Amino acid sequence: MLNIALPKGRLGEKVYNMFEKAGFECPSIKENNRKLIFENSELGIRYFWVKPSDVAIYVERGAADIGVAGKDILLEYEPDVYELLDLGIGKCSMCVAAPKGFRDDTKRTLRVATKFSKIAQNYYSSIGRDIDIIHLNGSIEIAPILDLSDVIVDIVETGTTLKENDLEVIKKIVPISARLISNKSGFKFKSQMIERVTSELRRQAEDRND
Ligand code: PRP
Repeated sequence: MLNIALPKGRLGEKVYNMFEKAGFECPSIKENNRKLIFENSELGIRYFWVKPSDVAIYVERGAADIGVAGKDILLEYEPDVYELLDLGIGKCSMCVAAPKGFRDDTKRTLRVATKFSKIAQNYYSSIGRDIDIIHLNGSIEIAPILDLSDVIVDIVETGTTLKENDLEVIKKIVPISARLISNKSGFKFKSQMIERVTSELRRQAEDRND
């Protein structure tokens, strides 16, 4: 049985559709209920929906053999997993954003609000800027408005959230997209099945880029 952790939500539905198109269908997953685990015993696959930021934990610990996680989560938590493929969906950017007209006063420690403390720390270390991290769990955009921070480091997809809160991107740190990841020992013991899934999904990812 190949265990697959899918990120709950809109991205997860796109991801499941890719698996389905690749021949790993599990029709019961589309029934509108609140179940979280779905199995197709004929194909030997089992899907489960988990919180997007938890996918890498399931995969790292072997509760799932493979899964799909955002590059943001992989950079932030550095789970001990193999990154097999960029699926080319869920594209967005990790950015520094600030209120319009912001000027960095380099004589002061910069206050950075973020959910992604490690990514922010690594970025500012790479440019030699002293910062004070303010770790938040969501609604990061309001931090500079309330003078809790000077800037934020957060994901920007359409840019609407920034715009509606009078913020603007001042630096794109890294592009983000959904990645297929694998448990390290699962990759050895279920290599045939995982390689089949990977090559089918690769074909779809490449077609999308054509
Ligand atoms: C993410 C991110 C921004 C928003 C960006 O939040 O933290 O707030 O999406 O999207 P946009 O550029 O298309 O407006 P998410 O929806 O994951 O919620 P969260 O703030 O609770 O993490």
